[in-house]
Amino acid sequence: MHGVVLTVFAVSLLLALVSLLPPLSARLNIPYAVLLAVAGCALGGLGVLAGSGAGGEVGAALRSIHLNSDAFLFIFLPTLLFETAINVDVRRLFDEIASILLLAVVAVVVSAFAVGFALWPLAGVGLAACLMLGAILATTDPVAVVAIFRDIGAPRRLSILVEGESLFNDAAAIVLFGLLTAILTGAESAGPVAGVIAFLRSFLGGLALGAVAGALACAVLPIFREHPLAAMTMTIALAYLAFVIGDHDLHVSGVVAAVSAGLVLGDAGRRRLSPSNWERLAESWEQLGFWASSLIFLLAAMLVPRLLADLRLADLGLLAVLIAGAFAARAATLFGLMPLLSWAGLAERVGAPYKLVILWGGMRGAVSLALALAATENDALPPEIRRFVAILATGFVLFTLFVNAPSLRALMRALRLDRLSPAEQALRDRALALAQAEIDEGIARIAHDYGIAAAPAAAPRRVGDGTGGEDALLRPEARAYAGLVILADREQELYLEHFDGRTVSRDAVADLLSDVGRLHDGIKTGGRDGYLRAAASGLQFGWKFRLALWVHHVAGSAAPLARQLARRFEMLVALRLVLEDLAGFNEAKVRPLFGEETAAVLRDALAVRRADTARAAEAVRLQYPSYTEALERQFLALSALRLEDESQRRLREEAILSQEVFNHLQRELGRRRRALERRPRLDLGLSRADLVARVAMFARLSPALQGEITRLLRPRLAVPGEIILRRGERGDAMYFISSGAVEVRLDDRTVALGSGEFFGELALLDDRPRNADVVALGYSQLLLLRRPDFERVMRRDESLRAHVHAVARERRGTAGN
Ligand code: CMP
Repeated sequence: MHGVVLTVFAVSLLLALVSLLPPLSARLNIPYAVLLAVAGCALGGLGVLAGSGAGGEVGAALRSIHLNSDAFLFIFLPTLLFETAINVDVRRLFDEIASILLLAVVAVVVSAFAVGFALWPLAGVGLAACLMLGAILATTDPVAVVAIFRDIGAPRRLSILVEGESLFNDAAAIVLFGLLTAILTGAESAGPVAGVIAFLRSFLGGLALGAVAGALACAVLPIFREHPLAAMTMTIALAYLAFVIGDHDLHVSGVVAAVSAGLVLGDAGRRRLSPSNWERLAESWEQLGFWASSLIFLLAAMLVPRLLADLRLADLGLLAVLIAGAFAARAATLFGLMPLLSWAGLAERVGAPYKLVILWGGMRGAVSLALALAATENDALPPEIRRFVAILATGFVLFTLFVNAPSLRALMRALRLDRLSPAEQALRDRALALAQAEIDEGIARIAHDYGIAAAPAAAPRRVGDGTGGEDALLRPEARAYAGLVILADREQELYLEHFDGRTVSRDAVADLLSDVGRLHDGIKTGGRDGYLRAAASGLQFGWKFRLALWVHHVAGSAAPLARQLARRFEMLVALRLVLEDLAGFNEAKVRPLFGEETAAVLRDALAVRRADTARAAEAVRLQYPSYTEALERQFLALSALRLEDESQRRLREEAILSQEVFNHLQRELGRRRRALERRPRLDLGLSRADLVARVAMFARLSPALQGEITRLLRPRLAVPGEIILRRGERGDAMYFISSGAVEVRLDDRTVALGSGEFFGELALLDDRPRNADVVALGYSQLLLLRRPDFERVMRRDESLRAHVHAVARERRGTAGN
């Protein structure tokens, strides 16, 4: 065999091997990554032997696979990262963004420096080479850890942290590696400031490129609605184009570009394809991701024998120092820096057992090996550096694979993280009992239908016998816990039903589903209170909303804000409906299972949520009554379509409709649905003239003066709870309330102001800092008058001036100023 045939043969052999490993790993209970590494090293050894003449055709085939580091990075990395990125829950990622960036960027630098300085005095190579080794070993491989987390049912939050870390730390490490290589080969001069600037340019540039590419892809995605195969092809092109254009043409980080394109597509693109097409796309990517991660690992492991070829005893000493340094650096970040984030209010606390797991679970994998290979192939680097990097990087990767990975479970057991809590045991037992009851019922029905004599009824199984679960279930908190989990599961199911029936838009469902994820975490960490805290945070305005609000304040543009508000309003409508359903579910299902006491706890919790949601929805209705009505009408119309769809399908199944007629009806239905699905546009009602006309103080003025003032005023929407002015700030504008209400929070009391009134004038008149916080009570349309314009307006009309001064005088008096 020669050339292409040989390569095809070799790749097929590898795929055959890869296909056998997952079942083997399940049977032997050894992490898949470890098996891959073993297989890869063995094959690599075979290849080396074959190099000396032995091995025949297989040996020749193995030798024929010659991948250099570029091939590794360019062929496999985009797929690997893109696949993880499209599946990440972006909202949750942003919730944890401070911790993730700390782990992914700061920790990479800390680790590079710790390793660098620990090895430098001993290694006999320069500091830059030691730093480079540190950078290579800063990329973590999350696969094994995340699989274990999933097994033991650790909070989703932990997987998000670990996955988010690995998404971005590959990028950070590769950028740092590139910089250090450039310094070592003399292509760039050293210097910390230049390094930081180059790093930021590469990272942020990659982020921006990926976001733009992802947004473009999302924009064209709807044309692929009926063409799932083409859609998949387009997304592959996206991943690789972002990577290559970033890396080669724009000289920003291609890795970051691929990740950020994947995040944008996963977040926004998902809503532009039909659910089933998205599902298909995700499955295809899963398959690609599996191939990429397996092959990159296997191929990288095959290099190990070559990289370790001239291992010396002294290297083992260096390896020990390296291991100590790398783990100490990771521990310092986790235990030293992470608490600072929660202390500063930037991130939620992560408990010590979990930190230990993240520390010990920081496996290094294929990316580290590929980078080590890149260093060994680089002829511009002195040979002793190449040897140093190859041996130590490989040694460290093997250490994490053969020591950390297999012992992670034991560690988790020692930390008791693998155990179900008593409440979870109770939940499991209940679930088993429920399932058993359903099975019994089903069997009885089948026996009856087919006239089979039913087996003598098995003695009714007592739930939790011998497992301690029953005792646990008797405890009210345990029952409440189990009830809340069931409630959150049901909530998720209801959203998915709405999603399937397409009565609620994908945007809203995506938001709501990620809120359910938070509910689960909340229950795990804080029971009922945690559940309610998570529910309350779901009602708060998220980062996208705040960004839109900021754009509105700074640039005056209202369109993004209107979109965000419309999305929120729709979410509220759906949430209210689902909460109603849940209240019914609690009475009908939870109460019979868990008793009145538990049902009462859930009832109360649901009542709190319903009240909060109703309040939020009411605030909308007050300001935008016709919009709320339009949304509710839309929901009804979509529900009608869903029923119609179901009846058509039933008729088709019963063969009353021919396939042709059915297709025709479905097309027709699809057309009507598309027209209906467009969310009604929300008019924020911020037309200046209208707002001015509603303020009595201006209505009295002459039309000419009114026109002049109208030009100077800027419309501004404030949302409930928004702090419009803060005490102590310098004042540069005053506000008129055109509609809505605000609350002035003084030292000893609060004063509500409504339509037609104004605030923020004292700071301008007295040239002093703001004397109170002013907070919006509902959606409030305000008119803002800036300081220079304020003075002009005051000069133009005496009556206006007198009025403002009189009110200010009164406020100074009552406020005790
Ligand atoms: P300023 O000090 O600029 O910012 C806070 C604003 O709260 C202040 O202007 C007034 O507009 C308003 N404010 C202060 N005291 C009172 C009060 N007693 N009654 C109503 N509004 C007040």
